[in-house]
Amino acid sequence: MYMSDNNSNIKKITTHVLAEMKLKGIKISMLTGYDYSFARILDNSGIDIILVGDSASNVMAGNETTLPITLDQMIYHAASVVRGVKRALVVVDLPFGTYQGNSLEALHSAVRIMKETGAGAVKLEGGSEIQESITRILSAGIPVMGHLGLTPQSIHKFGTYVVRAKEEAEANKLLENAHLLEDIGCFGIVLEKIPATLGTKVAAELRIPMIGIGAGSGVDGQVLVLHDMLGITQEFSPRFLRRYHNLFDEIKGAVEAYICDVKNKDFPNEKEQY
Ligand code: KIV
Repeated sequence: MYMSDNNSNIKKITTHVLAEMKLKGIKISMLTGYDYSFARILDNSGIDIILVGDSASNVMAGNETTLPITLDQMIYHAASVVRGVKRALVVVDLPFGTYQGNSLEALHSAVRIMKETGAGAVKLEGGSEIQESITRILSAGIPVMGHLGLTPQSIHKFGTYVVRAKEEAEANKLLENAHLLEDIGCFGIVLEKIPATLGTKVAAELRIPMIGIGAGSGVDGQVLVLHDMLGITQEFSPRFLRRYHNLFDEIKGAVEAYICDVKNKDFPNEKEQY
């Protein structure tokens, strides 16, 4: 049974370490992170991968979808995260509109992320339709992670956030795309909201690690959005989400106590002033 060792013997996580972990059957832990302070806590806890997800658009900026976030905003979040990390691999989402349909723009976006943040890899949503963009980014020596299944940047095409690839045709397409991403050189793939049986099958067929979010237990690792698993967000409750805390209520309680102390002139006391 794994017990967190608080990151005491630091071995920097690289894409090669992740490949080794899959070979040895060691599950990979991944969480999103968007700022320096949380990144320090995650890294100190021994997380393997911190994903600077474009879910920052939702949980940091309050947008309904991931579409509005810009490359400059992602770079700001990623650079803040990298400053708080010693061990974890930092992977950064290329935001919507910065890589689809134009592989030169994709390369330019990925290069900016690597140069301006110090992150270790980028993540792109999609399969064969963005093959040229991925290949071009990889040719510059930038590690790429894929993302298949429910790809939130395509929410307007899907129309809803329901489970993907339940039908045979979509499941076969996903498997085909997973093989393609492996063949062109991606180091791993996020599989989002697909049947557990399909997640298991893809992970068993591929050599590179499959990281699931709502893809069952048969994949090589798991990822959750930090604000969801900590219970900072409240309104989002898909079946795959395990909440490890109720930070919304805890923080609210602390803030309420502070307000009371200020209003009642209990804060600051004699010892808390000069
Ligand atoms: O942006 C994000 O948080 C993600 C995860 C859901 C995997 O892509």
